[in-house]
Amino acid sequence: MSKVILISGASSGIGKEIANTMHNEGYTVIGLSRKKPTDINYKYYECDLTNQEQIKSVTNQIKQGYPKIDVLINCAGVGTGGAIEEVSYEDLKWVYEVNLFGTIELIKGILPSLKNHQGKIINIGSVAGAITIPYQTSYSMSKSSVGILTEGLRIELKQFNIDVCTVLPGDTKTSFTTNRKTILIEDSPYYDNVKRSIEKMEKDEQNGVDPSKVVKVVTKVMNKKKMPIQVTVGLDYKFLVFLSKILPKRVVEFIITKMYG
Ligand SMILES: NC(=O)c1ccc[n+]([C@@H]2O[C@H](COP(=O)([O-])OP(=O)(O)OC[C@H]3O[C@@H](n4cnc5c(N)ncnc54)[C@H](OP(=O)(O)O)[C@@H]3O)[C@@H](O)[C@H]2O)c1
Repeated sequence: MSKVILISGASSGIGKEIANTMHNEGYTVIGLSRKKPTDINYKYYECDLTNQEQIKSVTNQIKQGYPKIDVLINCAGVGTGGAIEEVSYEDLKWVYEVNLFGTIELIKGILPSLKNHQGKIINIGSVAGAITIPYQTSYSMSKSSVGILTEGLRIELKQFNIDVCTVLPGDTKTSFTTNRKTILIEDSPYYDNVKRSIEKMEKDEQNGVDPSKVVKVVTKVMNKKKMPIQVTVGLDYKFLVFLSKILPKRVVEFIITKMYG
């Protein structure tokens, strides 16, 4: 029987590319997001990760239909832009609910189907979680927490033979750019910095790699007997993340300020 793969955020961008590629390669794919795409022919569940009750109901249905799931790929994610002082509590809550809390609830709901047959969880993080990007601080915080979630789960789930990994994409050309919620206030002292910084991020993302590059990394990692803790997509980003770990924090801050400050 083919491997069963559950993918959140499967309606767009990286998640959709993963779902379509794996479906075409013969895996049994189950997609999940708020809106079911019209152009697919695999099982799909509509579920809003900010809605705890809906996550419970959907995961119960999935568990009944699929008592054995081989891989859960947590790809759903949203971005916020703006100075922390100007990002509202609601927007902060939203980015955390989708990127972290909803993802955790999904993991918890699906765990029974992953246990005791070497199930795998792949969390899609971001280079922005390894290197703090100003005016995207709330997003960086949420993605950095995804990395910590992976590290904790790896140890906690070892007894159930479940392996966990974070994949860190860098700039990737998807609708993420247009879906980002940016707080830009005209008479704010942050206005020029936020505008410049977000414009740079948007340009970098739209000149970024094709989602298929992320799919290759996810597929490679998924088929490893033992997954690494973290994999960064692309040699340039691998080098950047490596540098950010070995350089003094002040030097990293200087470089990031030059780029996005
Ligand atoms: N693009 C980049 O440059 C980049 C770089 C690093 C990391 N990433 C990460 O890669 C992942 C995929 O992003 P992408 O670039 O493919 O962006 P995208 O095209 O905007 O896709 C985001 C996906 O998340 C789903 N989603 C959003 N809110 C949701 C909610 N409340 N409940 C359930 N699903 C929700 C969306 O589906 P619905 O709207 O149908 O709900 C969509 O399928 C994200 O975790 C992102 O942080 C992206």
